[in-house]
Amino acid sequence: MPATLRRSSSAKSPAATTSVNSSLEPKASHSPAHFYQNKTLDYYVEQKVTPITLRQLVFFGKRLNEERLIKSANYVRKELPVRLAHRIRDFQQLPFIVGTNPHIQLVYDLYWTAFDKFRKVPPIENTQDNAKYCDLIRSLLRDHLVVIPQLAMGISECSQHIPAAHANNFMNKMLRSRISRRVIVEQHIALSDSSVHSFGGGDEQIGTIFTNCNLKNIIDKCITLIGTKLGPSNKCPPIIIDGHRNCSDFTYISEHIEYIVYQLVLNSVRHTLRMAEANHLDAIPPVTVTISSNDTDILLRISDQGGGMTPETYRDVWSFTSEKRFEKFKEMPKMEARITEEEGEPWSWQGQEDQRLGIGLPMSKVYSEYWGGELKIMTMEGFGTEAYLRIPRLGNQTENIEFEEIEEG
Ligand code: COI
Repeated sequence: MPATLRRSSSAKSPAATTSVNSSLEPKASHSPAHFYQNKTLDYYVEQKVTPITLRQLVFFGKRLNEERLIKSANYVRKELPVRLAHRIRDFQQLPFIVGTNPHIQLVYDLYWTAFDKFRKVPPIENTQDNAKYCDLIRSLLRDHLVVIPQLAMGISECSQHIPAAHANNFMNKMLRSRISRRVIVEQHIALSDSSVHSFGGGDEQIGTIFTNCNLKNIIDKCITLIGTKLGPSNKCPPIIIDGHRNCSDFTYISEHIEYIVYQLVLNSVRHTLRMAEANHLDAIPPVTVTISSNDTDILLRISDQGGGMTPETYRDVWSFTSEKRFEKFKEMPKMEARITEEEGEPWSWQGQEDQRLGIGLPMSKVYSEYWGGELKIMTMEGFGTEAYLRIPRLGNQTENIEFEEIEEG
C-alpha cells in the first residue's frame, strides 16, 4: 500500500476528511479502518507525556536491578506510543499539499508503523520479554535513520506551500520529540545491555549518561573528528582552547554536547578556510574555543575570523526552510536519503549528514535547548562569528519536549 497520510477527524485543515493520496487510494479516509485508526490515535494523543530529568535517569540507573529494569521497560513501552501519537497528529494537520510530498509521506508512514508496533507490545514481565522489546526498538531505530534528511528535504520542497513559521514550528516539534524518544529508548537499551553483564555498572557512566563529563576532552574529540573529515592533505586553522580548561564533573549525555560542539567548530573551520582562500592568506587565523563555568552552568564560546555573515544569512540561521537551502536541494534532485555506514559514532555521522543538508545549526539549537540550555550566535559581517553555548550542569531540568510555537506573521 502506498504511503498515505490518514487525516484526523479533528484536524483543522479543510482537507481533513480527504486522503491526500486520493487518486491512488480513493476514499481511503472514509473507510472504517481509517475511522478506527484515528480513534486509536485520539486515545494516545489525549494522554500527556511524562518528561524526565537527567538526574532521575541517573538515580534510577545507579541502583539497577531486574525489577528496575522491567520498570524502565514498561515506562518506555507506555511513553513511546504517546510521544509518537502527538507528532503523527501534527503531520495530519499540515496543509493538504504538504502531506502529498513523498518525503513527508515516507516519514509519516514510518511513524505510523512504529506507533502501531509499539502500542501493541504487551506488558513486559521479565528479562526475556525485555530482550524481545529491545530487539524491536533496535530495528525501528535503524528504520528511522532516514527521518531527519527526509523531513528536511520534504519541508524544503514544500516551502512555497507552507508559511516559514509553520514549517519551522513543525520541524522543531518533530526534532525535539525525536530526541525525546531516542533519549528514553537509548537509555533503556544501554541499561539492558549493561544488565546482561552485571547489575551495577560503573559510577561514571549510567547508560548513555556521563556524570563526569569533561568539556576539554569532548572538544578534543570533536577536533580529531574534524581533522579526519578534512583529510590529511587539507589545511586546518589552528584551534585554540582557553578559559577554564579543567571544567569537568557535570552530568550530561555527552553525545548531545559532542553533536553541538562538532557542528559549531566545523562551521567556524569551514568559514575560516573559505575566507583565507578567498583572500590568499598565508597564515590562517585561529578558531578559539573558550570554556567557562559557574555553579549552575557550563559556558562555551566559539569565535572565528571567518568573515561573518550577511544580514540575509544571519536572518535564516535557525531556519530549517531558508530559500538558500531549498535552492541547494533543488541542485541535488536525485539525492536520496543516505544512511551512512561510515566508521565512527552515530552522532558524528548523523552530524555529518545534517551538515551536508545545511541543518547543522538549527539542529544544534534543538539539542542545546533540550535539557534547558541555550545557543546564541553573534556575527560581524566582514570579520567573524561567535557562538555562545550554555549547558545546565546539574541535570535537574526536565526534557524540553514542548516547543513554544513562533507566531506566524
Ligand atoms: C526516531 O528515531 O524517529 C524514533 O522515533 C525512535 C523510535 C523508533 C524508537
